Amino acid sequence: MGARAFAHRDLIAIGALERHEILYLLDEAEQWVALNRQAKKHVDLLSGLTIINAFFENSTRTLLSFEIAGKRLGADVVNMHAATSSVKKGETLIDTAVTLNAMRADAIVIRHASSGAVGLIASKVDCPVLNAGDGSHEHPTQALLDALALRYKLRERGMAADDFTGLVVTICGDILHSRVARSNILSLTALGASVRVCAPPALMPAGIEALGAQPFTDFDAALAGADVVMMLRLQNERMDGQFIPSPREYRHLYGLTAERLALAGEDAIVMHPGPMNRGVEIDSNVADLAGRSIITAQVEMGVALRMACLDVLTRRTRGVPGWADGEWV
Ligand code: CP
Repeated sequence: MGARAFAHRDLIAIGALERHEILYLLDEAEQWVALNRQAKKHVDLLSGLTIINAFFENSTRTLLSFEIAGKRLGADVVNMHAATSSVKKGETLIDTAVTLNAMRADAIVIRHASSGAVGLIASKVDCPVLNAGDGSHEHPTQALLDALALRYKLRERGMAADDFTGLVVTICGDILHSRVARSNILSLTALGASVRVCAPPALMPAGIEALGAQPFTDFDAALAGADVVMMLRLQNERMDGQFIPSPREYRHLYGLTAERLALAGEDAIVMHPGPMNRGVEIDSNVADLAGRSIITAQVEMGVALRMACLDVLTRRTRGVPGWADGEWV
C-alpha cells in the first residue's frame, strides 16, 4: 500500500479526510484490536520514537488510550498536563508548541479548549500532530473509534460492516458545543449512514444541514426507526449562560430512557463517547443494556484505533517503504 492510502502528515479533522482514508485507518486498527485481546500486548514498532501527549483540557479516555497505544507500540510516551505546566505561568500556546518541538518529539497529541488551536500548533512544529479534541471543532479519533466499534457490532450481528449505507444514526445532546457530534456527522455520512441530530433549539447549531445531518428538536421523532442512538452529554464547560431550563426538564425531553429507546429500531445500538452523566442524558439501565450498548466497546476500540493512527502517522519518520516520500496535505 502506498502513501496515497493516507496522504496527511497530521490528523486534525475528519473533514480533511477522504472516505478511503477513514476506511484505511479502520482497517489498520483491526490488527491492534486482535493484539490488545491477547495476553502479551506489546510490539516494538515505534521503538526509539518519542510521543508527547499535551492536554490543555481534562481527559480520562483519550489521554489514557493514547498513552497506552504509544506504549503498546514500543514508543517512549510523555504526558504534559497543562495544569502543572508553564502554561500556568503565562507561556503562550505557540511558545509551548515550539518548546515541545525543540525536544524532538516524533508525534504530538494535543487536546485544547480552543477550536483551531491544534491546527495552529501543527503549523509550528516539524512532527505529526494528532488532534485529541479542539474546542467544539473536531475530535477525529473519537469519530474513528466510534465507527470501529460500530463496525465490530454490525459484524457480530452478521451484517455488512464495511459500509454504513442504509444505517440511520441519531445523535442526541448538546450538538452546538460538541466536537464529537461534528466529527461523527462527517465520518458517518462519509461511510454512507444517514445521520439525524437532535437537540433543544438553543443547542442546535445553525446550518448543521450543511454537514449532511438532518436536524430534529423532537427526540421521539428523531428516534423513530433509528438503528443507532448516540447520546452526548451537556458540555457545561463550554456554556456561557443558560441553554436549558433545568437538568430535570432536559432529561424529560432529551434523556434516553428504556421507554424512549423502544421508539428506535428493533435492537437499536446505544453509544456514548463518555464521560456519561447517568440520569441526565442517559439512564443506567440503557447505558448498561447487554447486547445493545457498545459504550465499553467504544473505549476498547479507542486504544486500537489510536495505535493505528500513531503507526500510520509515524511511517514517514520510520522510513517505511512507500511512505518516506509521501505527499502531505
Ligand atoms: N470521549 C472522550 O473524549 O473522553 P475523555 O474526555 O475522557 O477523553
